[in-house]
Amino acid sequence: MPDHYSSTAPATEASHHASTGASDNANVTSEANTTTASHAGTTTTKRKHSHSDSQAHKRVAAQVADHYNARPDVGVEKRKESSIYHLKSFNNWLKSVLISRYARHGFNVLDIGVGKGGDLLKWSKARIGNFVGCDIASVSVEQARGRYQSMRKPPFTAQFHALDCYSEPISNVVSADQVFDMVSMQFCLHYSFETETKARMMLHNVSSQLRPGGIFIGTIPDAYWIVKKLKSGPSDLLEIGNSIYSIRFERRDAFEKFGAKYWFHLEDAIDDCPEYLVHMPTFQKLADEYGLELVYNKKFHQVYEEASKEPELKDLLYRMNVIQDNGHLSEDEWEAANIYLAFVFRKKENK
Ligand SMILES: C[S@@+](CC[C@H](N)C(=O)[O-])C[C@H]1O[C@@H](n2cnc3c(N)ncnc32)[C@H](O)[C@@H]1O
Repeated sequence: MPDHYSSTAPATEASHHASTGASDNANVTSEANTTTASHAGTTTTKRKHSHSDSQAHKRVAAQVADHYNARPDVGVEKRKESSIYHLKSFNNWLKSVLISRYARHGFNVLDIGVGKGGDLLKWSKARIGNFVGCDIASVSVEQARGRYQSMRKPPFTAQFHALDCYSEPISNVVSADQVFDMVSMQFCLHYSFETETKARMMLHNVSSQLRPGGIFIGTIPDAYWIVKKLKSGPSDLLEIGNSIYSIRFERRDAFEKFGAKYWFHLEDAIDDCPEYLVHMPTFQKLADEYGLELVYNKKFHQVYEEASKEPELKDLLYRMNVIQDNGHLSEDEWEAANIYLAFVFRKKENK
């Protein structure tokens, strides 16, 4: 059985040259592959979609939506009581780094997997012009809309839509003539790697209304790091983690390019939710078919090392309570932070 992850270059070394391991050329071996067809000059795999397949995929999507809908939208004060308060602050700081680097005054932004709208203030600081937030979890979407409406004089207009962005085209909710300058997918893209079909719909939604030269930013778990950590343990090990997170696989004899499922638990944030490894070379190759070129790919620790040297972003670490007089990330939180990597793609000019 294939294991596409072990030979992949680690994201820590990543620039846009990285992540092209030997497995790059291997055939996609996602479930029910049948024939191959040519798409945009690249050989791709066509899947035979059985009824029970699609029922199962709908069930997973509903499970993810239920999970996020059920999470309470806690206020600022309650958030401070969280056992992973500093980790949450760090993740927010990291998203601020990405947003402040790439968003510009007046931008039209599409946020896929907007959740409860936790990034609205960051977009406000970037002085964007319009914001469209979509998420499969309808309760979260309502909370995001409520958060926007409670902003004092929001400096941008905004629209929110409940949409399964990995099964339905964005044009179902957004007028086809809207052109985005930027698309953001924070901590959510990996759910689309359940199947190639979903990953393609996700990329279609990212790219179809993004202007040439437009930017696509995001954060995902680093599959290479996860698999490497699992494989560094005993040969029957199925779970890695520490006091605040766990990543549990059902099997370890095969890690496919799509559908490589694990169960993720993060204390006070995610209660055992099904997630999927994102095979970076496959993601990059697929994104290329949709006119998206990888320009940045770094582990969170590396982003921190670099960004915290910039006075303004260093100062932000204190203002966002990542570092406080009486505390900062624990060792376990610091390890959990490095599960993730940040990426940036640019839409090619001729696409
Ligand atoms: C970890 S939360 C991140 C929320 C937000 N981006 C943030 O950074 O705070 C992941 C989000 O992805 C959303 N999501 C998962 N599958 C989705 C899908 N098929 N379509 C749209 N959103 C999806 C979930 O509902 C959830 O709100």
